[in-house]
Amino acid sequence: MFRKVLLFPCGLVVGACHLSAGLDTSFALDRPLHTIAVVLLLLGLTIVAHGALTSRNRAAHPKNYTAIPLSNGLNNGSNNRPGSRDASPFGEERMGMQKRTLGTKALVGLLGLLLLAICARLAIYQRMTRNMECAGPTAMAFLPLVLAVCHSLRGFGKSPIWNADQLLLDRALQFTFHHLTRYILPSFLLFISSFMVTMSTIALRSTYICPLAHAAASVVHWLQFLGFLIDCVAVLVLYRLLDDVVVRNEDTVAESKDGARNIVWIGLSFVASALGLVLPGVIAYAAFPEHREWLLTASPEYFTSLSILSFMIPFTTLCFLYTIQLYATMSTMLILAFSIAYTQVFQALRVGVSYAFPPKPSTGLALPLMLLTTALILYLIVDTAAEGQTRSKFPIRFGRFQIMLAVLVAFALFVVGLGYRPDVHGGQISSHPITTLIGLANETHGEWASQAHQSRSLPEAVGRYRERYFRDPPPGFEKWYEYATSRNSVIIDDFDNIEIDLAPFSSLSPAELRSRTAEILADNNGLGGISIRGGKADVFSNVPGTHRWMVDGTIQMIEKFSEFLPDMDVAMNLNDECRVAVPFTKLQEAHAKRELYPDHKFLKDTINFSSDRSSNWLKISKIPTDTPSYFKGVGFNPTFKSYGSIACPPDSPARRERHGNMRTLCTPCAAPHSMGAFVSNWSISASPCHQPDLANLHGLHLSPSAFVGTHDLVPIFSQSRAPGYADIRYPSPWNYLDKAAYEFDDRFPDPPFAKKENTLFWRGATSEGVSAGAGAWRGMLRQRLVHLLNNGTHPQPILLPRRNGNAKLEYIIETPETIKRLLATKTDVRFVGEIARCGGADCADQVLEFGSGNSVDFKQHWRYRYLFDADGAGFSGRFIPFLQSNSVVFKSALFREWYEGRLTAWKHFVPVDLRLHDLFSSLAYFGGYGIGEGQRKLEGRENDAAAIASAGRVWAKKVLRKEDMEIYFFRLLLEWGRLTDENRRELGFRVQGERGE
Ligand SMILES: *[C@@H]1O[C@H](CO)[C@@H](O)[C@H](O)[C@H]1NC(C)=O
Repeated sequence: MFRKVLLFPCGLVVGACHLSAGLDTSFALDRPLHTIAVVLLLLGLTIVAHGALTSRNRAAHPKNYTAIPLSNGLNNGSNNRPGSRDASPFGEERMGMQKRTLGTKALVGLLGLLLLAICARLAIYQRMTRNMECAGPTAMAFLPLVLAVCHSLRGFGKSPIWNADQLLLDRALQFTFHHLTRYILPSFLLFISSFMVTMSTIALRSTYICPLAHAAASVVHWLQFLGFLIDCVAVLVLYRLLDDVVVRNEDTVAESKDGARNIVWIGLSFVASALGLVLPGVIAYAAFPEHREWLLTASPEYFTSLSILSFMIPFTTLCFLYTIQLYATMSTMLILAFSIAYTQVFQALRVGVSYAFPPKPSTGLALPLMLLTTALILYLIVDTAAEGQTRSKFPIRFGRFQIMLAVLVAFALFVVGLGYRPDVHGGQISSHPITTLIGLANETHGEWASQAHQSRSLPEAVGRYRERYFRDPPPGFEKWYEYATSRNSVIIDDFDNIEIDLAPFSSLSPAELRSRTAEILADNNGLGGISIRGGKADVFSNVPGTHRWMVDGTIQMIEKFSEFLPDMDVAMNLNDECRVAVPFTKLQEAHAKRELYPDHKFLKDTINFSSDRSSNWLKISKIPTDTPSYFKGVGFNPTFKSYGSIACPPDSPARRERHGNMRTLCTPCAAPHSMGAFVSNWSISASPCHQPDLANLHGLHLSPSAFVGTHDLVPIFSQSRAPGYADIRYPSPWNYLDKAAYEFDDRFPDPPFAKKENTLFWRGATSEGVSAGAGAWRGMLRQRLVHLLNNGTHPQPILLPRRNGNAKLEYIIETPETIKRLLATKTDVRFVGEIARCGGADCADQVLEFGSGNSVDFKQHWRYRYLFDADGAGFSGRFIPFLQSNSVVFKSALFREWYEGRLTAWKHFVPVDLRLHDLFSSLAYFGGYGIGEGQRKLEGRENDAAAIASAGRVWAKKVLRKEDMEIYFFRLLLEWGRLTDENRRELGFRVQGERGE
């Protein structure tokens, strides 16, 4: 029976750990009010049921609760303790308790207070969610201490805790072990350790904007404080009500009728507050039909999380209530607090460290863990010592054994915790990661360039094509080869981007591809059609004037080689934003079904495109107007969950976790593509799958402007796409038409790198997404960049040499102000023109926060050494001209263009993480830090910077010319031609006279 009874405390520990560990990433927070209503209701019902059940049980089996006479325990437990000369403390406690059973008036008062506290807390929570990024550390861990102090005050004055004639040590021991004060010391240690952990976990702030100009920031701190006070009141009221449950009669420990009554009433108040939440919802449902959908719809992930909660909450509550019957209220609350505190420490320990990043908190986590373990052991010891007085239901022997076990477990937790955090670098590193990354980039680039152009003749190119892509090149390949070589293309073999982009579409039949193209064009939803007939390219759907340049530029590009193209139609995306997001399973199916042209004999003669192609393409006018649309316009709304990450595997962090904490830097999110704080793998650095926090860090995911998306595999040609989307990339006509050109003149020259101003420069508009009134701007990349460099509020990490002058480096956390003062490179980063794409309060808020500058001549950029390129609503329009200049480009981007792979990060440009936490360290590396003043000096590596500027310039002139855009597009359209040909399995280009392998 004892063992079975032990299940309750264990259940409480498990439940509390599970709930506190998962809360931060639970999708249940997607709809906080819904969830809170459900949780309150479940809590209430569980508590009512428990109360009703225990009172019935007792009525049915009154014998159940008679237990061992107290005198046994008294003799065993307390007599040999120091200071037990006093009259038995337990006698006092018993008397006190009996007196304090609540009268009806007090009960009503307390319940009213509880209800009030819940309502006030909800209101505060609701207000706080709008500005969580400004919140400071929580003081939840302070609550047990408050409780412990109140616990000791209850019996105060009845029996002195120590006698006046005792020595100090005796007094201390007396204080530690006295039945009233024994919880204070463990709670205090628990608080200290939890507070240290909290401080260390929130030390590394994200660049998500906490507006300075807005009053929100200061209000949040006050609200937090108020919330804490209300928490204290609520916990104390609960404690008072629950403590009535256990009332000690003459010889037995049992629950009083009052106890059961209290419990039922507590439950009813929770139910009442839940109904108080539901009621406005019901009214809104009846009164505003337009909000019904919003009120009742939620994602499947939400329902999964909610059902887990719906199980765990009643389970934990029941365990909690039964544990109270065993160990009394104060102990139970402490068990709960310890479970939460340990979960917190272990979660903090779990954050991996790579190359000394993230920096260790100043005290490490060993100290808090040690304090916590000390607190736990102390609590267990003092509680056993008091065992005889309070837990007479069990023979003491069992208690001892139990405590020994618990102490062992606590110690084991401590040891495991200490050994847990793998940090091979011990918080410091001897070489700068950027040096390593630049070295690696040189190698990578060399390898890439040599494999990209190995073929020296057409037959060789055909051979390499077959080796790479397991099929013959498309008909017309010889024309393409001639076109490319006559324009000195340094890339002949590596067109993997085309392969990657078209791969899923090969799962659709040629007829399907053609009809989908016609259907989406007929839909006329931000798409422009281009048709090629008899070697001539033409626009064939009505394209709005503002977007005309896109199609015209595309046609100019195609005209260069259109005579060699078969008849075909192409659907061009007129929006900046990409739009084809295919769910993971659908994409898997597509890849399984895709036609791999088995290396079937490689026939000897070229088989050309079918001759009846033009008649195969459906006329748009023939598409019935009632065809259901593929698209859904969800502009101005978050798209990360429904589009951005939908192609990720279901077990990836992006699909499994919700990242609601915008306050702190998510280092585990960045770790897979980072070396320390720096981007080490540019190709996956924008992938959504391992980065759930990206949902709040870019305009496309937060609130895109013209987002017309689809979950179907439809062939749309876009100028760029974010990873996770399946648009087919083609070279941007913006670049082809030189809409932003690399040009200089006498007034705006482009001096050599060393002669430029040592400044990081950026100008741009707030066009990344639309901030329609809900504050989406605070997460957008461009806004975060401007904010960080002009009004950065929170400390940021920076990698610097250690103080004592040995060559080691370590990350420190410093305010942006100090960093900017000590950086040799200055920053000049501003919005120009009116704050655009905003609505509601967001316009005024942004104007207050950023102000805005005058627009500058594009050529003015060349004055500066470092140019920042932050992508906006889509492809970057200025990256190519920036590369062509003598400046170094810092690039932070979500979108990927057709030239992905041609450029190597750290060789041709400096990659910057989308979170921007590496920006200062990169600037310090290239420009230098703390020269002249400052105790940590870093010599700038200007030669490295100049080398990147020159490598970028030279390489861009080789692989990003207009000719290269034509060559890429030519090859892409040949492949598209084959994909849409009825005879696609057979046709192909073969070198005359060559034997099949
Ligand atoms: C980047 O990550 C991808 C996926 O994990 C991997 O295939 C690729 O080799 C990595 N690239 C580099 C340069 O490490």
